[in-house]
Amino acid sequence: MVVAGALVANGLLLLAQRSRPPELAGMWELPGGKVEPGESPEGALERELREELGVETVVGQQLAGDVDLAGGLVLRAYRVELMSGTPAPLDHSDLRWVDARGLVGADLVDADRAWVPELSGMLRQP
Ligand code: C5P
Repeated sequence: MVVAGALVANGLLLLAQRSRPPELAGMWELPGGKVEPGESPEGALERELREELGVETVVGQQLAGDVDLAGGLVLRAYRVELMSGTPAPLDHSDLRWVDARGLVGADLVDADRAWVPELSGMLRQP
């Protein structure tokens, strides 16, 4: 399983720009990564966000609908609350906070598009 986090603050959602692989580099995603053996999905997501963004988070509600990825992986997304730190692109090319219009207009990785309607409803409207 792969887990991803929707970090929303002040009506804006944090998007992260992938630096790899070449076919996905430059595209934007909800930050996260693979669940390792012995980890819960929530624990894995907190670890990934610590490693990738340098922040401490608490994982909240799951977003609706898991997404099938290539290679038999399943992608699941959760609401995430920021507890401490300021997100930094430790593993991504860049970070960006987007409102509803910015999310709809972003060059998102395909898998994450499933959550655009649900996420847009949580964000500041233009
Ligand atoms: O980030 P990482 O390469 O560990 O992600 C594992 C797989 O999950 C990749 O195929 C990546 O494209 C996918 N993924 C995704 N959307 C995310 C995070 C990861 O489709 N938000």
